[in-house]
Amino acid sequence: MTQAALITGITGQDGAYLAQLLLQKGYAVSGLLPRRSSDTLWRLRELGIEGDVNLIGGDVSDLSAVLRAVKESKAAEVYNLAAQSFVGTSWQQPLLTAQVSGVGAANVLESIRLTDPAIRFYQASTSEMFGLIQAEKQDEKTPFYPRSPYGVAKLYAHWMTINYRESFGMHASTGILFNHESPLRGIEFVTRKVTDAVARIKHGQQKELRLGNIDAKRDWGFAGDYVDAMWRMLQQDKGDDYVVATGLTTTVREMCRIAFAHVGLSYKDYVVIDPQFFRPAEVDVLLGNPAKAQRQLGWTAGTSLEQLITMMVDADMRRVGG
Ligand code: NAP
Ligand code: GDD
Repeated sequence: MTQAALITGITGQDGAYLAQLLLQKGYAVSGLLPRRSSDTLWRLRELGIEGDVNLIGGDVSDLSAVLRAVKESKAAEVYNLAAQSFVGTSWQQPLLTAQVSGVGAANVLESIRLTDPAIRFYQASTSEMFGLIQAEKQDEKTPFYPRSPYGVAKLYAHWMTINYRESFGMHASTGILFNHESPLRGIEFVTRKVTDAVARIKHGQQKELRLGNIDAKRDWGFAGDYVDAMWRMLQQDKGDDYVVATGLTTTVREMCRIAFAHVGLSYKDYVVIDPQFFRPAEVDVLLGNPAKAQRQLGWTAGTSLEQLITMMVDADMRRVGG
């Protein structure tokens, strides 16, 4: 029998790659589609799967809409990826971020509990919850210290997932994913902002690149690898919590160097530091320990930062070059 899955956030970076992966595995894939006045299907289109997924209108902050989507999709697995996911915006819209990225997860958990508690659930938790890090390398046991309204909202969703697992015996898992990027990354995130700028500068369409704190360090992997870890979590005998990361950390500065060097330029000639891109509170460094995911899920990050960034620059060179 065909297995059915529901993805909230299906039009986002991870949603698109996860939908592609599940379709390849033979799933019937549904996605929750919030109402937007402009087209948000470009990622599904780029992957050539727009016509292969069943889109169900609804917003994750609306319990009735989520409940309807869970029933209509007949999903045996629900992946909650919907979020206001840009950290910078979460200081300007803290309550919206709480409703979508925090309470949204509770709406999905409640919908599953009311429909069929045997439905398996994945929550998109985040390394942003570690914030002001309490251990040099962060794993599943490291205490959390979120530094943004986004991180705080995600921590609520994280603990609600664990609480539903412990309270109702649900197969509910959290993936504490460290930063992951791709050619489908939103333009506001730093890697894609850089690779898009590199392509525009190389094509003579942009003169400089304005950035904030380029000494921040991140553990960056490829989104295509990370959605496989999500699926593996839901194939386990029971729900659990997993850190998904590369185990390496790199500065934004070094990431810029790699991106510009790929087209024969030096980032030092183009990057301008602009205070408007500094955050009220910064997460200076993130570095994950993915040992549990390796051991229990048989998962490893298969793409180096160099491969990732050059893949993104190449994609943006093609886009900008027309
Ligand atoms: P993304 O590209 O920003 O995608 C977010 C998705 O959520 C989009 O499809 C978006 O639709 C949807 N969404 C936003 N508000 C919604 C609402 N009210 N109702 C229903 N859907 C809504 O994020 P991503 O990079 O794919 O990340 C996927 C998930 O993993 C997010 O929960 C993110 O917080 C989490 N995460 C990401 C990373 C990372 O490095 N990428 C790391 C750890 C955790 P619209 O575009 O129409 O708003
Ligand atoms: N976006 C952005 N723009 N970031 C900049 C800039 C800039 O101009 N200049 C420096 N940075 C720094 C940020 O201050 C941060 O330290 C780092 O680059 C990464 O920023 P983002 O790419 O915006 O990602 P993030 O780490 O804040 O959040 C992402 O990863 C989280 C997992 O750790 C998002 O995908 C979150 O949704 C995710 O949970």
